[in-house]
Amino acid sequence: MPQQSIKAFVFDVYGTLFDVHSVGDNCEKMYPGKGTEISKTWREKQIQYSNLHQLMGNYQTFLTVTKEALRYAVKQHGEQLDQNSEKELINSYLHLVTYPEVKEVLSQIQNKKIAVFSNGSHDMLDPLIKESEISSLIHQLISVDEIKQFKPTVASYDYALQQLGVQREEVLFMSSNGWDISGAKNYGFQTAWINRKNLPVEELNLEPNSIYQNLQGILEWKD
Ligand code: LAC
Repeated sequence: MPQQSIKAFVFDVYGTLFDVHSVGDNCEKMYPGKGTEISKTWREKQIQYSNLHQLMGNYQTFLTVTKEALRYAVKQHGEQLDQNSEKELINSYLHLVTYPEVKEVLSQIQNKKIAVFSNGSHDMLDPLIKESEISSLIHQLISVDEIKQFKPTVASYDYALQQLGVQREEVLFMSSNGWDISGAKNYGFQTAWINRKNLPVEELNLEPNSIYQNLQGILEWKD
């Protein structure tokens, strides 16, 4: 439940504000009958590869990681990926739609600082947000690429806090990714897990402050 006054509402991007489902639709068009599995592997590998790059100390942008993950996913499912198909599928990440409630929720909290904080690099994030229906409702766009530390490292959330210029407990961080919520909670943000897929809470002893099925629930925090 909401505990105290929040000054900054900070959102994860992929899967939280924007629905990555259209990426799966494009995979299905290109690889009929295998779209769902390919896009599932793609997303899993994208997260795993960002973690691996981080652990190995050889940071690459999320755009590069997304391409590497796609190449692996297509290969794993026994398909070929030519340059044009790669371009087209990667391009899907620049044209995602927001979840239905996002615009209305953001317009109700405009008296607070509204930021996005993403593993996405600016070459992915900027075009996506600028062309979306919510571009004028977002006040600050923070990418881990500015510090080259992927979430969920402590350094990444710490960087975001410096950019926000508020106290850490004045931040409400929202993500649909359990690992991201664990990282933010570990750092000391207030957290709201947007559990769109109805998954169990991660077993990392870092319970989110609130859990909602979609972003509407966060209006409880607006005071
Ligand atoms: C983000 C992804 C990884 O940071 O969901 O936006």
